[in-house]
Amino acid sequence: TTRILTGITTTGTPHLGNYAGAIRPAIVASRQSDADSFYFLADYHALIKCDDPQRIQRSRLEIAATWLAFGLDTDRVTFYRQSDIPEIPELTWLLTCVAGKGLLNRAHAYKAAVDKNSENGEDPDAGVTMGLFSYPVLMAADILMFNAHKVPVGRDQIQHVEMARDIAQRFNHLFGQGREFFTLPEAVIEESVATLPGLDGRKMSKSYDNTIPLFGSAKQLKDAIARIVTDSRAPGEPKDPDNSHLFTLYQAFSTPAQQAEFRQQLLEGLAWGEAKQRLFELLEGELGEARERYRQLIEKPSELEDILHAGAANARRIATPFLQELREAVGLRSFR
Ligand code: TYM
Repeated sequence: TTRILTGITTTGTPHLGNYAGAIRPAIVASRQSDADSFYFLADYHALIKCDDPQRIQRSRLEIAATWLAFGLDTDRVTFYRQSDIPEIPELTWLLTCVAGKGLLNRAHAYKAAVDKNSENGEDPDAGVTMGLFSYPVLMAADILMFNAHKVPVGRDQIQHVEMARDIAQRFNHLFGQGREFFTLPEAVIEESVATLPGLDGRKMSKSYDNTIPLFGSAKQLKDAIARIVTDSRAPGEPKDPDNSHLFTLYQAFSTPAQQAEFRQQLLEGLAWGEAKQRLFELLEGELGEARERYRQLIEKPSELEDILHAGAANARRIATPFLQELREAVGLRSFR
């Protein structure tokens, strides 16, 4: 069997980039016969960039309902909240003790903070918490706890999966005594959606405020699409699909035949207004039904609680004995 694992940080409303980069490929992968899948809400990660408890709580509910609305089969997939697995922060400490500080100095999120501070002439570490700095170690613990082989993610997470490999190798080398405790994980990237653009053409991201939320109303979806930035070519003028993030968005959710047709129409001068209407119809087709299920699910928090609770119990059946072995390997063994 192949172990597949991925998580989403619970700091905001899930958007089209999360769906295309992680949720959709993960659900497809979980249906393969040899798949053993672990999908979770990264709610400890959420504490790093957010000090608004209500927002985190709401986001956990929304992201749980989102996975289920897209048809995640919780009989086949272990679906849980990171914060329900106390073995994860404990493993994080074991890994923190072997992770090089130099390795973590190179992490994108930390480097971006340092660069920004330096540009502004401030102390390089101003505002940087230890949570932000060690973010990749917590993520390594998520992955290594369940010995995942494959991690479906968008491009922005590749570095973190590579760091998890590095940390795993180091731990195996130091404590394995011939045994490979940890499997070396691999990021799985779907090239066409590795970085889904947002309304302004930059990566779609909560932090750029350029997202298309998954489950707003049809009207909100239409309004968001209306805000997609296009060039100023008039109706009838040929458009350049390869330099249009509207086309990139269309591509991520359509068949090759639909893409070829849309490309041709743009080259022949389809008006941007019309093109936006096409994109709306495409997305409404992909999201409409799931939106209905989502609305029902979000009204049933206690059912969601039960599902996540059962998922955590299953996850801990693996995590608890494995962590015990790891504790013993590093020298934390019973005296008896
Ligand atoms: P997060 O919550 O930022 O994003 C969740 C997933 O969505 C993908 N994604 C995108 N993919 C394509 N285009 C985009 N514009 C886009 N925006 C987001 C992300 O790449 C990610 O796959 N640290 C992770 C959560 C995490 C995790 C893990 C993931 C914690 N532990 C273990 C995998 C394995 C994060 O913050 O993702």
